[in-house]
Amino acid sequence: MAGEKLALHGGSPVRSAPYPAWPRLGSGDLEAVAAVLEGSDWGGAGATVAQFEALFAQVHDAAYGIGAANGSLALELALLAAGIGPGDEVVVPAHSFIATAAAVSRIGAVPVFADIEAATYNIDPERVAEAVSEKTAAVIVVHFGGVPADMDRLGDLAARHGFLLIEDAAHAHGAEWHGKRAGSFGLAGMFSFQNSKAMTAGEGGMVITSDEDLAAKARSIANAGRRPGRGWFEHFELGTNLRLTAMQAAMLGKQLERLPIEIRLRERNNAALEQELAGIEGLYLQEAPAGVSAQTLYVRPGRIVADSFGIDRGAFVEAMQAEGIPIRPFYPHPLYRNPLFQDHAHRAASCPIAEQSSRDSFWLPMNLFMGSEDDAADIARAVWKIHKAVKPKFKKPRVNGPAPKAG
Ligand SMILES: Cc1ncc(COP(=O)(O)O)c(C=O)c1O
Repeated sequence: MAGEKLALHGGSPVRSAPYPAWPRLGSGDLEAVAAVLEGSDWGGAGATVAQFEALFAQVHDAAYGIGAANGSLALELALLAAGIGPGDEVVVPAHSFIATAAAVSRIGAVPVFADIEAATYNIDPERVAEAVSEKTAAVIVVHFGGVPADMDRLGDLAARHGFLLIEDAAHAHGAEWHGKRAGSFGLAGMFSFQNSKAMTAGEGGMVITSDEDLAAKARSIANAGRRPGRGWFEHFELGTNLRLTAMQAAMLGKQLERLPIEIRLRERNNAALEQELAGIEGLYLQEAPAGVSAQTLYVRPGRIVADSFGIDRGAFVEAMQAEGIPIRPFYPHPLYRNPLFQDHAHRAASCPIAEQSSRDSFWLPMNLFMGSEDDAADIARAVWKIHKAVKPKFKKPRVNGPAPKAG
């Protein structure tokens, strides 16, 4: 087995069949959209959207849901409705999709970057405590890949320092911390329904909250400043139009029904992967803290320690892709390295884990966990094949003959 020829070097790949595509149609989706199209309630101000907003919020342990055109705008909406703006600082994780920090800048506040934890890839509460200043209005917690951050420690910090918690749950549909859904811990949480997400209408987003005032303000901003019960041409906030469409809501309603089944499928397949990977050296998948009672398994990040695995992350990703496992490298750099945020770089002086993660981390996309257990185990087969082929190069030379050729 050791030294089996890697696909990168002309060997046969571990698999040639593609993984299941995502997004994919589920039962009843077409009928649900057709039912909307057969009526005249296509827009976002009618009953279809209102019902989905209420149901999504309820499933995520919140009292109110406010649909939005996408997750980026949902995050801006949550910040605006929370009254955050110029003069405020908002602590964000050093690694996330750019929207997490851009939303803060776009509403006129200043993002301040805090390092992530090596094991969970979530914002590190100790680094949050260091980043907080008298200007800190809020902390945005990203539940990376659908693994909830430690909401006990972050909640304690928020209470002690008096800042608001806003949850970026773009990855975390259905995820839970001690049995309570991600997005329901802070003053507000937001979700994305963009094309790759665990629930998707191609685009779309949602703010959830149990704060009546925030909900009313967010709903008004998202609906041209209108107020419930008042006229269509009466406007009380400097609002805009962020509404979801009824077609999106109809699709998302069907997906919300399937979400628990799909999470269970990914959990089962992830367990098969972890079992097959047991004992591997130099490869670490994201860990969930003890309080996590459900994770979305949206993307599954992990890291390669080159000395013990045998090759570095770049070579690993290339070798895995050649073996038919479409993994991706992690974000190319921490957010504060983007010139857009350079003015604030001094507030992120030391984020060594984020820096390291850009060099050594990768992620497994969700669709790798949406086929059979055997499909997921193929990920481990490819990892072992690569490890066995490359590791001897890093071991003491063998006495009985040459080490197998490495990559
Ligand atoms: C962590 C995070 N926050 C926010 C967003 C923004 O969501 P959207 O793409 O729907 O605007 C994304 C999208 O990928 C994300 O990954």
